[in-house]
Amino acid sequence: MSWPTIPPAPDTPPCGPPVPVDGGWVVTRHADVVAVLTDPRYVVPAPGGPPGTLTWLRGTVSRFSAPDRHPGRRALGVAALRDLDPDELCDAATRLSMQTLDRLATAGRVEVMGALARRVPLEVLAARLGLADPAAAVPAVTAVAAAYHPGADPAAVAHADRAVAALLAMSPPAPAEAAANRIGLLVQAADATAGLIGAAVRHGLAAPAALGTADLLAEVLRLDPPVRATRRVATGATRLAGREIGPDATLLLRFDAANRDPAVHPDPDGFHPAGPDRAGHAAGEAGHPALAGPSVRALTFGAGPRGCPGERHALALAAGVVEVLRARCRPAATPVRYAPHPTLRVPTSIEVMFR
Ligand code: HEM
Repeated sequence: MSWPTIPPAPDTPPCGPPVPVDGGWVVTRHADVVAVLTDPRYVVPAPGGPPGTLTWLRGTVSRFSAPDRHPGRRALGVAALRDLDPDELCDAATRLSMQTLDRLATAGRVEVMGALARRVPLEVLAARLGLADPAAAVPAVTAVAAAYHPGADPAAVAHADRAVAALLAMSPPAPAEAAANRIGLLVQAADATAGLIGAAVRHGLAAPAALGTADLLAEVLRLDPPVRATRRVATGATRLAGREIGPDATLLLRFDAANRDPAVHPDPDGFHPAGPDRAGHAAGEAGHPALAGPSVRALTFGAGPRGCPGERHALALAAGVVEVLRARCRPAATPVRYAPHPTLRVPTSIEVMFR
C-alpha cells in the first residue's frame, strides 16, 4: 500500500535549538514548543488596534486574554462546546456536503474551498450554537477571521467591525462575555478547519480507500498543518534550551517544524497512518509494531492551558466534509495556491472533478 508523502511546506524552518530572529526567537523543536506553551511565564501577546467592535471582540475572547482573565473566559467557550456532540456535527457536515455536491453535480467540477471547506463547518457550528441565520453567519465569521490577528489592513478591520455587529444581532441573548466567546468559537474554527479540509483534499483525495479519513486528517495535521505557528511573549528573563530569553521577547512557536522533529517522529516526513503521531492513539494499538514508540501528538492543536478546546469538533466537521469528497470526487490537475499569511496555511482554491 502506498501512502501519500508530504514534504515540508515552503519556508518551514529546520528543527533545532531556538534561533534569534528580528529581536525575538523562533522555536522549532517539539520539546521546546511544549515547554513554552506550558510555562505561565510566557503569555499571549495582548491585542492592540484602534477602538471599535472588532477590538471589543478581541479584548473579550479567551484567545487573547491575559492569564488572570483567561480561565473564566475559556470556560464559557468550553461550556458552549460541551453541548455539541461531535458525531452529530460530523453527520450534519456530511449531509450539507452531499446536498451541496448534488446541486453542483451538473458542472462536473467543484471548487472545494468556497463551496464546502469555508462554508459547511461554520454553517453547521453556527446552527448548533444557536445563531438565528447560520448561512448569513458564514460570511460574517469569515470577515472577522480575516482581521482577527494583528496586522490586518484598515479596510478589513472596518468590514470585521460590521460583521461582529451582525453576528451579535443573530446570537442568542447572553451576557457580553458569553456572547463574545460564542462568536470566538466560530472565528477560531473558520480558517483552521477550512485549511485542514483543503490539506486533506490536496494530499488525500487520491489516497487508497483503505486509508481511513481519521488517519488521513491526523497525518495531514502533522505534515501540512493549517495553523503553522503561534506566538508568546516572555514576561521576564527566562532560559529556554540553554538560551537566555530577555523580558518582553517574542517567541514564534513553529508547529510545522516541531511536527517533524526527529526526536519524537523517527521518520519525520513519512506519512504514518495510525502511527505514534496520531492524536490520542496509543503506540502499537493498531498493529503497527514497526511504529511502536512514545505516543506523540502533532502540535497543531497547541498544548497546555490554552490548547484548542475544539479539537474533536474540528476533526468531526472536517471528517464529514472529506468523507463525502473522497466518495464522490477525484483530483483535478489545477495547481493549489495559498493565501499569504504569517501563521496560517489555507488554500485559496482547490478544484476537484466528480467521478
Ligand atoms: C483544524 C482545526 C483547528 C486547529 C488546527 C486549531 C488550532 C488551535 C490552536 C493551535 C490553538 C491555540 C493557540 C495558542 O495557544 O496560541 C487554538 C485555540 C482555540 N481554538 Fe482551535 N483549532 C481548530 C479548530 C477549532 C474549532 C472547530 C473550534 C471551535 C469549535 C476552535 C476553538 C478554539 C478556541 C476557542 C481557542 C482558544 C482557546 C483558549 O483561549 O484557551 N478551534 N486552536
